[in-house]
Amino acid sequence: MCGIFGYLGRRNAVKTAIDGLKKLEYRGYDSAGIAGVFQGQIIGCKEVGKVEGLEREVQELDFQLESAIAHTRWATHGKPSQINAHPHYDNARSLALVHNGIIENHLALKKELVSQGARFVSETDTEVISHLIASLYKGDLLFAVRKAIGMLKGAFAFALIHKDFPDQIVVVGHESPLVIGVGEQEMFVSSDPVAFSEFTHNVVFELLQPINRCLNGNDEVAVVHRDTFEVFDAAGQRSEKKIEKLTAKFGTASKGAYEHYTLKEIFEQPQTIRSAYVDRLSEEFGTAHFEEVQTEMPELLDVERILILGCGTSWHAGYLGAYLFEDMARIPTQLEISSEYRYKNPLVPHRTLVIAISQSGETADTIAAVRELKAKGTNVHGSTLSRIADACINMRAGPEIGVCSTKAFTSQVVILSLLCLAMARMRNMHKEDGKRFITAIEDLSAQVEQILETAPHIEKIANKYAHHENFFFVGRRYMYPVSLEGALKLKEISYINANGYPAGELKHGAIALINENCPTVALCSNKGTYEKILSNIMEIKARNGPVIAIAESGQKGLEGIVDDIIWIPEVIDELAGIPATVATQLLAYYIARKRGTDIDKPRNLAKSVTVE
Ligand code: AGP
Repeated sequence: MCGIFGYLGRRNAVKTAIDGLKKLEYRGYDSAGIAGVFQGQIIGCKEVGKVEGLEREVQELDFQLESAIAHTRWATHGKPSQINAHPHYDNARSLALVHNGIIENHLALKKELVSQGARFVSETDTEVISHLIASLYKGDLLFAVRKAIGMLKGAFAFALIHKDFPDQIVVVGHESPLVIGVGEQEMFVSSDPVAFSEFTHNVVFELLQPINRCLNGNDEVAVVHRDTFEVFDAAGQRSEKKIEKLTAKFGTASKGAYEHYTLKEIFEQPQTIRSAYVDRLSEEFGTAHFEEVQTEMPELLDVERILILGCGTSWHAGYLGAYLFEDMARIPTQLEISSEYRYKNPLVPHRTLVIAISQSGETADTIAAVRELKAKGTNVHGSTLSRIADACINMRAGPEIGVCSTKAFTSQVVILSLLCLAMARMRNMHKEDGKRFITAIEDLSAQVEQILETAPHIEKIANKYAHHENFFFVGRRYMYPVSLEGALKLKEISYINANGYPAGELKHGAIALINENCPTVALCSNKGTYEKILSNIMEIKARNGPVIAIAESGQKGLEGIVDDIIWIPEVIDELAGIPATVATQLLAYYIARKRGTDIDKPRNLAKSVTVE
């Protein structure tokens, strides 16, 4: 994981690098560091915690550099500490290096390097690269780097500065993203162009796609100078790289009047839901279409099975999608967690449509799973993993800054609903049913708006339960994935142990945990199973478990039974996951706020999980 930034040019290198790092914090924020050359020496500064801590430190020290590489970390090997923070050096401090990824053979390399006299100071896998390059360096830095990357296993991107070449940053992107920004007499290196987009839109990467912003896949090495760059292939031959124009818009994110980005993003959902469907519905024909995907293409008509992949919240959205595709389009659908699927040696029948779901498009597990499918010769359709997928449907939700995913989930569910509608209409769905489904989609924004208006009521309930350390979220059918998502939100931002459970499954074991100190959030909106969940609620109440029901106005039998109720508007079962999830987002947010956690950047997490 982690974010890498590098700068060579006419601006203040330290300030530019720190500002760049702040925009990469979504990739990790447990420690940060900066290093470079100053008066012929490699010097650096590292701090535990967020980039603002490093910023304070460099300001106090009046830290100066002529050129800089910088890093914001999400710990994989070695706990978050100053010593494990990047950059990492060799023993002679002839070079400094920042790295994103994992060096899988670091232990074997370390053993060898130690036997040659290298002294390791950190617990990281990264330090191996610094010592390895230093051990191979005999005056030709490019040769040493090329030789080193041939010995490294894993996915990695790194940038290094050597004291013998103070006006160069050497960069490598091997299955991990790294992009060069070409400015006016200044050059940038970054894990993501968002970090330098205010200075230049001229970039070098293989494809203008969010997922493979890697410089290369072939062990190329780029040498970045103050006003130019060169790229060399594995054999040391110069390879030509096109400078491309960044077309993506990078707005400056702001919290506005909201206390947290997470709250702002929860409140943005009436708009983001609308953006997800606007221009994509055909009222006349009761169907949906995407400019990005030819929904009329024969392959879609021929699809016999669907495989949905994702992690975390995206997997939960996929869960709802899987129910939809089977219910509405009558297509057998398999849902898989990307990190598990990759190692399954799966059976993928002919005519399987693969839908990989990702907010960031950079989740290593999902990318790896899709690559595995590609290697099997599968035809992959529709995903944000743009480079490797055959088509990509944009969520149009704008940047999501809060680490806990909120508006991305509801946009993903809307898009899956539209895709499902299109495929159902190609098969057995009647036009009139399609039209009714469209009306239900178009009603969602206003329904979510109504839930947001009840935020003060939800906050009161949150304050009442915020001291509990264990929660259950239960639901049946379309509410089961919502229970998983609601529990994940609570875990992530309030650090409360919360379990999402199929309500009917509780009695098979987990009910042993129910007592007066373990509240249950009962998601009642799935009308087809309402009577059943009422019985499950009774079972919980019989064991003194407090119950907060999230139920649709008009659902009878809850008052006087449950302890608290959050009423939400009535929605068809297939789409009820959207409003119900918004209610759970608000509940989790206000509980976390009451507990005083770091809501936008919860401990131990990163927005994009770019390691496997
Ligand atoms: C959810 O709140 C998370 N932060 C996390 O589970 C996330 O959904 C997961 O890491 C997948 O990310 P992606 O959608 O960017 O692929």
